[in-house]
Amino acid sequence: MINDFPEDQLSVADIGTGSGEVIFPAIEKVGCPIEITTVEPSLAFHSKLVSTFEQLKSQSKIADVHCFNNKAQNLWEEKSLLKDISEKKFDIIQATFSIQNLSKAEDRKSFFLWAKQHLNTKAQLSLSSASPSAPQKTGQLIVIEFDVPESGSNQLPLCRSDRVNFFREAYEKGIGEYRNTPAFMPVTQGFLIPVLLSKFDEDILKDSIETESTSIEQSKEKWAQEMREAGFSRVETCYLAPFWWSNCVAIIGTV
Ligand SMILES: C[S@@+](CC[C@H](N)C(=O)[O-])C[C@H]1O[C@@H](n2cnc3c(N)ncnc32)[C@H](O)[C@@H]1O
Repeated sequence: MINDFPEDQLSVADIGTGSGEVIFPAIEKVGCPIEITTVEPSLAFHSKLVSTFEQLKSQSKIADVHCFNNKAQNLWEEKSLLKDISEKKFDIIQATFSIQNLSKAEDRKSFFLWAKQHLNTKAQLSLSSASPSAPQKTGQLIVIEFDVPESGSNQLPLCRSDRVNFFREAYEKGIGEYRNTPAFMPVTQGFLIPVLLSKFDEDILKDSIETESTSIEQSKEKWAQEMREAGFSRVETCYLAPFWWSNCVAIIGTV
């Protein structure tokens, strides 16, 4: 996706980095020195990141690394914890499948505002190999999430026909992906079916809506709208890949 980089140094923040399955392959493709900041709340993932960066640190490509064992909310709620980066600006801030953990709308709003304030104006990249655009001289927020249609919403009447159809079609695809594989029983019985049952259990859903405890799932239009409301001057969405649950998309905000 990111196929052009400037020749000078690039500064990237990856929020909710996990074990680095996205950031490490991306580093390989970057053609210039890169300064990386990771923010990851799981100690196990954070420790893995630190040790992998330790091994890679001799690579001339890695100009600097800062790994924080924190959740995104600490970026704006507890500046003292992340004071090292509270004044920092990035060329790219990315978050792949992690902002879905900000189930409260106010947290997503704070995240988008924080990102907007911490993007600088010297990044230079073109975003899509399908429609390569002229290099843009501005920082960008790249959020990768699922594009879940309204019909998959927990807010609808549980047995409304379009909602039932959404789950029926998605689960047919999901179960089909694991059929005839050793993972079939553990995945279907340990994950897919319990999740499906919970999606049609009024008490569980009511509780998760009230406590905002489940991850947020919404359409790409809603993701884009939230980014726009935080003041990004241009917001684009870009289809990335199909997944049985729903398509993966990038929502890209330009300051
Ligand atoms: C599905 S994983 C994605 C990991 C990685 N970005 C990737 O694409 O491989 C979601 C990640 O978000 C992290 N996460 C959960 N809550 C978070 C929060 N409040 N702030 C930042 N990251 C969070 C999890 O610890 C986990 O590493």
